[in-house]
Parts: sequence; C-alpha cells; structure tokens
Amino acid sequence: MDQAEKLREIIKKQNQSNESSARIITVTSGKGGVGKSNVSINLALQFRRQGKRVIIFDADFGLANIEVMFGVIPQYTLADLMFKGKEIKDIITEGPEGVMFVSGGSGIARLVNLDNEQIKRLVYKISELEKLADVIIVDTGAGISPAVLEFVAASQEVILVTTPEPTSITDSYALLKALSMYNGFDYESTNVMIVANRVNSANESANLYEKLSAVVNRFLKIKISYLGAIPYDQYINKAVMKQKPVTIAYPSAAASKSFQAISTRLAKNETAQVRQTKGVARFFGKVFSSKRV
Ligand SMILES: Nc1ncnc2c1ncn2[C@@H]1O[C@H](COP(=O)(O)OP(=O)(O)OP(=O)(O)O)[C@@H](O)[C@H]1O
Ligand SMILES: [Mg+2]
Repeated sequence: MDQAEKLREIIKKQNQSNESSARIITVTSGKGGVGKSNVSINLALQFRRQGKRVIIFDADFGLANIEVMFGVIPQYTLADLMFKGKEIKDIITEGPEGVMFVSGGSGIARLVNLDNEQIKRLVYKISELEKLADVIIVDTGAGISPAVLEFVAASQEVILVTTPEPTSITDSYALLKALSMYNGFDYESTNVMIVANRVNSANESANLYEKLSAVVNRFLKIKISYLGAIPYDQYINKAVMKQKPVTIAYPSAAASKSFQAISTRLAKNETAQVRQTKGVARFFGKVFSSKRV
C-alpha cells in the first residue's frame, strides 16, 4: 500500500465515523492560468450569499492564489497544522463577506511524504473542517501531479476549468486520462463538470464542450457534464488588479452574472449530489451507508 492509498483508507474510516458532511467541490484544470482561482473564489462568494458557510481550501502550493486575490494574508497554513502543532481554527482566515479560507502553503507538497501517524493526525484535524462548513471548495494547482490528482480523486464533485485554446482542451483531456488511470479513482462516483472560461461566444463554449466530450466519451469511462460558461471579461482582470473578486468589485459585469448562473445550477445539482453520496456509501460498504443514508 503506498502513502496515497493509506491516506484514502484513513479518510474512509474517518468518514464512516463522521456524521456531518460538507459538500466538497474541487476546482481543477489541465493547463495553468485558465481561471481556477477566480472560479473558486467567486463561486464561494455565491454560496455564501445563499447563506452557506464556505471554506476555500487553497491546495496550490506553488502560488498563494487565494490570499493574493482576497488581499488578505493568513497567519498560518496547513504546514503549521501538520508540523507546528497548530489547530484547524488557527489556520482558517476570514476573507470578504465571511468566506473563510485555508492556505495549503508548503503542506500540500509534503502531503505525499507523511508517515502513518502524521497522516492519521492530519486527517483527524482536517475532518474538523467539515463541521465548520456547508461547502468546501478546493482550489488545486494545474496539471497531472499526484498532489493535484489526489484531491481530484478524493472528490465527488469536480469542476474542470477549460478555455477555448486548443492546448487547454488537450490538457483537460490529459488530466482526465491521468485521473482515469489513477489508483483509487472511481469514475462512477465522480461528477466532473466542465466550466468553459474566457469564451467569446456561446458558440465557442459549445464547441469547446463538444470537442472535449467527444474524445472523453470515445476513450475514457469518465462521465463529464457541462456546467456553464464565463465570457472573456476585462472586469475580471480589473478586479484581480484591485485584489477583489469580480462579483464584489463589479457585480453587474458579464462574468459576475455567469458566476451567479453557475452557482444556481450547482445549488440545483445538490439533490443529484445527495443521490451520489448514496452511491459512494454503497461503494464504501454497509457501515458507511447505514450511517449516511
Ligand atoms: N473570464 C475571464 N476573462 C478575462 N480574464 C480572465 C478570465 N478568467 C481569468 N482571467 C485572467 O486569467 C488570469 C488567471 O486566472 P486565475 O488566477 O484564476 O487562473 P488559475 O487557473 O487559478 O491560475 P494558476 O494555474 O496559476 O493557479 C488572471 O489574471 C485573470 O485576470
Ligand atoms: Mg490559481
């Protein structure tokens, strides 16, 4: 059993004994710089406006994405929880409108090298996060590294951000292919939703989805669905420069309206998600299903 498998085993056990269940949505992409952090932050704000308690988990150890975009510097990161004895409440930082976030810091890169005891402690502490939130949005790094795939494989709901550039579409396919071969990934219990970002027309987003779904349906078992599109919008760039999410700085911008539409669709999907939880419960076995179903 490798480290990742051990971690999954422990997470499964933890889930079995944990009554609360936050909705976990992982935002990822094949290619970098396609808009994951903007999607994560603005959808988090939308959920918050629907009255949900929201935590963004910044799982990109490369760049301090969320804190830069919120203009708020966290005092501690996941690494402090893992190695410096900090508690979960110490590493949660409050952003605008009461959206909370946790920075992975260097903790994400070191996740794969932990021993059993450290993994147990970490999962125990992280499971407390679930009690503090109704929705957890995980903003991952780009690409097919284990640090990204591990988060994606553990999630029931995945938003795959893709732009119309050919390289973005092929990189999205590459990510899905790597995921389908990833140890422990279960395609039946994973809902991969495509967001087309930086599109210039409805036609362009339809094309993007058609191209991607054609190859995915042909070569992979993963099922993908279309969640929505965000237009190319200068106001996103302006908001990023101001270190403010676009739905705060420019609520009537076209991109802000798209985030609203996407979050409405996600809220409606929740019933489907509950059904899906049952599917996972079956997959994880009787004990789990008797607790959750
Ligand atoms: N719909 C859009 N219209 C115009 N610009 C956009 C749009 N979405 C994102 N951008 C721009 O693209 C850049 C990258 O966005 P973002 O940081 O959200 O991407 P990312 O996928 O999180 O990047 P990374 O892989 O580095 O984490 C930002 O500077 C942002 O201004
Ligand atoms: Mg990012």
